[in-house]
Amino acid sequence: MNKELEEILEQYRNLVVVGGNWGDEGKGKVIDLVMSRYDQTVRFSGGANAGHTVYTPSGKKLVSHLIPCGLAQGKECIMGRGELVDLSLFLKELDDSKKVLGTELPNIWLDEMSPLWTPWHSLLEAWLEKAKGADKVGTTGKGIGPLEGLYKLRMSPLVGHVLLPKEKIIVMLEPLRLALLPIFNEMVSSGAVAHIPTVEEVADAMVDLSPNVKQYITDTSFLLSKAVEDKKRILFEGAQALGLDSYWGTYPFVSSGNSAAFGAAAGTGLPMGVFDATLMVVKTLPTRVGGGPFPSEMWERMEAMSFAKEHGQLFADKNLAAAFLSEKLEKINSGQASGADMSQYFQVLGDERGATTGRGRSVGYLDIPWLQYAIRINGPKWLALTRFDMLSKVRSLPVVVGYKLDGNLLGKGQLPPPWKLGDVEVVTEEWECWEEDIFGTSSEESLPHGARKFLLKLEKSLGVPILLVGTGPAREAMVIRGS
Ligand code: IMP
Repeated sequence: MNKELEEILEQYRNLVVVGGNWGDEGKGKVIDLVMSRYDQTVRFSGGANAGHTVYTPSGKKLVSHLIPCGLAQGKECIMGRGELVDLSLFLKELDDSKKVLGTELPNIWLDEMSPLWTPWHSLLEAWLEKAKGADKVGTTGKGIGPLEGLYKLRMSPLVGHVLLPKEKIIVMLEPLRLALLPIFNEMVSSGAVAHIPTVEEVADAMVDLSPNVKQYITDTSFLLSKAVEDKKRILFEGAQALGLDSYWGTYPFVSSGNSAAFGAAAGTGLPMGVFDATLMVVKTLPTRVGGGPFPSEMWERMEAMSFAKEHGQLFADKNLAAAFLSEKLEKINSGQASGADMSQYFQVLGDERGATTGRGRSVGYLDIPWLQYAIRINGPKWLALTRFDMLSKVRSLPVVVGYKLDGNLLGKGQLPPPWKLGDVEVVTEEWECWEEDIFGTSSEESLPHGARKFLLKLEKSLGVPILLVGTGPAREAMVIRGS
C-alpha cells in the first residue's frame, strides 16, 4: 500500500466504508485498496443484492455478493447479524472463491441470527412487486425486502435454525406458512406459479444445508467484541448506499437494510464508539437502477435502463464504442448534446451496467446538494471520488449546486421527503472540466490543472477532504491526496 495512505489509516483502527449515492460507486475497489492495513473484514447489511468485484494480490478477479471482499486478500471474513443470508448462494460463493484463490480460505463466519432466505421469500417479493404495479421498486430479485420485512414482523427463519431438528424447524416455520397462505393460494390460482414449496420441503432444504454450513455459524457479535478487545484492525464494508438505506434513502424506492454508516453498529452489535472513521465512496457521475427519485438524472430512467440491453454490441465492440463515443463527445463539446446524448455517452464510456442484474444504469450529473445530505447523515472523515476520469476530454458539464422546492432554495444538507424529491427544481452551474485524458493516473502532480481545479472546487463545496480519486478500474488507478 502507498506509504502516505498507510500513515493516514494507521490512526483509524476500525474503519467504515459506505456508498454515498445509489450504489455501484466502486466500494469494492476502495476496500481493496485499503484492506491490506486491516486484519478482519466485516459485512453488516444487505445480502446477495450486492456485487463487489475485487482482485487478489496476484491479480485474480473475485466477484463477491455475500462474503466480504477482504476474502481476496485472505483476511478473516465476518458476516454480521445485519446481513441477509441465502445459504445455498453462500456455499456456491465459497466454492467459486476456492477455485479462484486456489488456496485454503481464511476463517469465514456467519451470524447465527442473520435472517435466512427460503424460496418463500422470493415468491413473496414477486408478489409485492406486482402489487406495486407501475410504482414497483425494481428490486434485484434476491428476496431482500421480505428477508428484512419478515424479520421485523418477527416471523423470520434465522441462519442458526438450520442446526435445529427438522420437527422444530417445521414448528418454527408453520406460523409463517399460515400467514403467507392466502397470498400463495392466490399466486397458484392466478397461474403466476405452479408450485409453492411445502413446509416439509423448506424444512428439508434447511436440514440438508446444515452439515455444510455448521462450521461457519457463530455469534459474530461476541467474536467481534473480542477482536476489538484484542485491538484487531477491522474494516466494515458497506453494501448498497445512502440513497438505498431504508430509513435515510428515497423510501420506498430503497433496499431494506441500513446501508448508511450507522448500519455498521446496528448490523454488528458493536458500540458506536468503536468506529473510528467513515470513508464515503461517491461517484463523480452518480447512477441509479430500479425505480425512485434521482434529482440530477440526465435522461429518462426506463430508456436509460433498457439502452444498455438494446445496444449490447456498443458495450462489447471496442471499435463501435470508440466511434459512438467520439460522435457524442463532439456533440457535448459543441453544446448540442441532449440529456439522452449525455447519458448514453457516460453509460457506454463507464460500462454502466449492473453487476448483479445486467440492467443499464441511468447516469446523473454531479449532485452537490445530494452529497451534502449524504455527508450530513454518514458523517464521513473523507470521501473517495470514483470514476473521475470520466470527465476527461469534456469541455464543461452542468453540476447541480442547489435544490429549489416551490421556488425556495433548500438549506445545505436539507432534503425534502422522497415524494417531493421528484418535484425539486435543480439549480445547475456549468463547471469546466479538462482536455487531457487522466485514465489510470495515480499521482496528484500528474493531474492536469483543470482536474485539480475541479477537485478543489468540489472539496470546498462539500467541506470534506477528498482522500482518494479513482481514475480507472485498475488497483493502481487511484490518486491519494494526503491529508
Ligand atoms: P433490493 O435491494 O433487491 O430489494 O432492491 C431495492 C432497490 O435497490 C432497487 O432499486 C435495486 O436496483 C437497488 N439495489 C440493490 N442493490 C443494489 C446495488 O448493489 N447496486 C445498485 N442498486 C442496488
